[in-house]
Amino acid sequence: MILDIINKKANNYELTKEELETIFMGYLKDEVKDYQMSAFLMAICINDMSDSEIFALTDIFIRSGEVLDLSFIDAIKVDKHSTGGVGDKTTLIVAPLVASCNVPIIKMSGRGLGYTGGTIDKLESIPGFKVDLTEEEIKRQAKEIGIVITSQTKDLAPLDKKVYALRDVTATTNSIPLIASSIMSKKIAGGADKIVIDIKVGNGALIKTEQEAERLSSLLIKIGSYYQKEVRTVISNMDRPLGHSIGNKLEVLEAIEVLKNKEKGHLLELSIDLATKMVSMGKEIIESDAKKEVIENLETGKALNKFIEFVKYQGGDLESLTIESKVYNIKANKSGVLKDINALSIAKLSESLGAGRKNKEDNIDYNAGVVIKKEIGDEVKEGDILANLYTNIDNPKFNLEKIFEIS
Ligand code: URA
Repeated sequence: MILDIINKKANNYELTKEELETIFMGYLKDEVKDYQMSAFLMAICINDMSDSEIFALTDIFIRSGEVLDLSFIDAIKVDKHSTGGVGDKTTLIVAPLVASCNVPIIKMSGRGLGYTGGTIDKLESIPGFKVDLTEEEIKRQAKEIGIVITSQTKDLAPLDKKVYALRDVTATTNSIPLIASSIMSKKIAGGADKIVIDIKVGNGALIKTEQEAERLSSLLIKIGSYYQKEVRTVISNMDRPLGHSIGNKLEVLEAIEVLKNKEKGHLLELSIDLATKMVSMGKEIIESDAKKEVIENLETGKALNKFIEFVKYQGGDLESLTIESKVYNIKANKSGVLKDINALSIAKLSESLGAGRKNKEDNIDYNAGVVIKKEIGDEVKEGDILANLYTNIDNPKFNLEKIFEIS
């Protein structure tokens, strides 16, 4: 039976919901083996899925676990998701921005694995910050300050988690239908009414081409409308890291600079864009009006105050957020113009400094990471500092030419 289902997909026939349920639920119950699921996922990567197969798979993922009930909040709940990028600290900026506009944010976030860090790791790098809130704590905090970011309380879409772990080690992560159902199942199980998704495209992202990003965007919107949930998407570049800092504490410090309105550039623009969409959906107002409110709250410090209130409420002490590590420099080996900064190479470097996990159980050095000191287009002279490396490892290794292109 399982073999027939794998064969059918391998021969490019459309599967029924019952067939998908048999193989995927069988996998959750350990009746279908890893090697069978690996072959099946690869057949999906090669032969794709129809819309009705994608809707069915999303539904199977959702029903494999619990669905969060956020109806205790008497307002539209808007959530945000990013497909994952290098230096992506937008949640730390966008969540307080949106909450400061009186749109409630109750967000379940994850930890990072591999090159892209998770929001929970970043928040946990703030001394004292509590990431494991109980349901009662979530409810109280949501009512009192309108912003909560916590690690998952319930078992949301456990089947997606199991399938994702297998995809990670079988070269089946970049299938667009699998990505779409994975993301949407978690967002729907997370109880959001409306969802904004930041689709990252580039060498430091899962999605490498604009065309794939467009397809993913249209699938996410279609799945959303199937569940009567409005979805808006942003497609953003990930050939270069987002902002200047990569690494947990360093990213929190950079997010604070953005909230102080001291940083310009792509990170600020993307954060405003995402917050604008969320406020527009949460308040049911047009995006130009939402953008005015978002910018005003950034400029008046309301968003920064919301961030400080939120961190304090969850036990964090921003005064003690200091970097404790050795600092090394990457210096230019020639003079010229800085043409490119490679996101993937920076991410690998940051991981090697101690900022990321190779395996789920690895510990992270919250102090570790990279701060880029030059912008693309800058004239650099031989010996100029291109980046600071924060690490507790002695004499870290790096390949300058893979990270910085100077010509
Ligand atoms: N993010 C997810 O949650 N799932 C994917 O498959 C890819 C990105």
